[in-house]
Amino acid sequence: MSRIVYVNGEYLPEESAKVSVFDRGFLFADGVYEVTSVVGGKLVDFDGHAARLERSLGELGMTAPLARAELLDIHRELIARNDLDEGMIYLQITRGAADRDFAYPESATPTVVLFTQTAALIDRPAAQTGIRVISIPDLRWGRRDIKTVQLLYPSMGKMAAKQAGADDAWMIEDGFVTEGTSNNAWIVAGGRIITRHLGTEILHGITRAAVKRLAEEAQMQIEERAFTLAEAKAAEEAFVTSASTFVTPVVEIDGTRVGNGAPGPITRRLREIYIADTVATAI
Ligand code: PDD
Repeated sequence: MSRIVYVNGEYLPEESAKVSVFDRGFLFADGVYEVTSVVGGKLVDFDGHAARLERSLGELGMTAPLARAELLDIHRELIARNDLDEGMIYLQITRGAADRDFAYPESATPTVVLFTQTAALIDRPAAQTGIRVISIPDLRWGRRDIKTVQLLYPSMGKMAAKQAGADDAWMIEDGFVTEGTSNNAWIVAGGRIITRHLGTEILHGITRAAVKRLAEEAQMQIEERAFTLAEAKAAEEAFVTSASTFVTPVVEIDGTRVGNGAPGPITRRLREIYIADTVATAI
């Protein structure tokens, strides 16, 4: 079935949606994106994603081509036109089309693309079984706090994981875990919930922020600091967070079982609390 997608002000069947071969997103990965989850036809943490988008654009010297309210309208229109109940909305904004030149063009009209993806987010088998990860060196650029579309290394990491019979990869820098290929990494050690502090080394996950807030509200102990791969392997529990996985248990790292090899109680509780909050606050 063909989706209706949004391209530069138009709602089109996906087959008719086109962008220029000169688009700097295509030539230079000169663009940013967001993935917002949809539950019960409503958007999860729209404002958080919109704020991060504005920040990403600002870091690349681009101004937001659409106001937040207009973006919200487009998201909602796509949900309606595609009858989306559960899944994601992908949004990408590039600097636009210009003759190939490393320097930013003086004037280019940003390209804005949004499309829907149907997916079961709440009832996912991985939430019950947990996922297995391998570790790989983090060879990405240094501004991982900007959500750019240059995703080749994470893509390679995911393929390395698949080839190793695992589900995903955690990236390691100077012995410390930075994050997963497309999610933030967490462990539970000594009963404390640990996730890496914010900085330029990781993406500032919107789900991470919500889970942190909800854990604090539930009086759980949170520590924001870097943790090593060895700590993760010896942890009681491990999990990842993202808009598309919510809170998903990690049960194996490089072939070593985490805890008893089954999703742990703190992870399961956080997933439950997160989903309850998500359903209650989606707009
Ligand atoms: N990825 N870290 C990285 C490198 C990511 O790509 C993502 C999200 C996250 C989690 O951020 P959030 O909680 O805001 O989704 C962390 C999205 C889902 C993707 O690329 O599909």
